[in-house]
Amino acid sequence: MNKEPRVIWFTGLSGAGKTTLAEKLAAYLKENGVKCELLDGDTVRNIFPQTGFTKKDRDEHVKRMGFLASMLERNGITVIASFISPYRESRDFVRKMCRNFVEVYVSTSLEVCEKRDVKGLYKKARRGEITSFTGIDDPYEAPLHPEITINTAGEPVEKSLERLLKFLG
Ligand SMILES: Nc1ncnc2c1ncn2[C@@H]1O[C@H](COP(=O)(O)OP(=O)(O)OP(=O)(O)O)[C@@H](O)[C@H]1O
Ligand SMILES: [Mg+2]
Repeated sequence: MNKEPRVIWFTGLSGAGKTTLAEKLAAYLKENGVKCELLDGDTVRNIFPQTGFTKKDRDEHVKRMGFLASMLERNGITVIASFISPYRESRDFVRKMCRNFVEVYVSTSLEVCEKRDVKGLYKKARRGEITSFTGIDDPYEAPLHPEITINTAGEPVEKSLERLLKFLG
């Protein structure tokens, strides 16, 4: 098991499976004696509810979390980060700050994510009850060179986790 500190950064649409996989991975790493910290978009946004969904807010949110991740990594902690992080430029900004950045593109399609609609937000976005929703009326810029791509469509969570663990070594 590779115990080197690193920043494992999940990006993808809402409902793609970022939090689900990030939590499973964190539990697995902890069980195997890897010091790690989980940073999840919803948790952070609950603490800082004034963070909105404009491009500026999203970029700042991602860059701040990336900065925090890089500091933890420098101090020997593996960071598991799960944020939609829709903009390539801000993800690449984070990549440059970190020593060992692993971009995990959870590539589950909009169609599948919308069918899952875990939080009921796609329905609201389609009805126009919420705006600036990634994939509906806000952009998602897919990574060009992610370290690993995981499409969770039609695949049990355990299988996706297994593929990820195999890659992480
Ligand atoms: N192989 C899989 N891996 C991960 N999640 C899966 C998989 N198959 C089905 N799912 C389901 O897809 C849903 C993913 O929801 P999750 O909250 O993890 O998405 P998210 O990417 O964190 O979204 P958000 O950006 O809104 O926080 C869960 O209900 C999960 O059980
Ligand atoms: Mg999530």
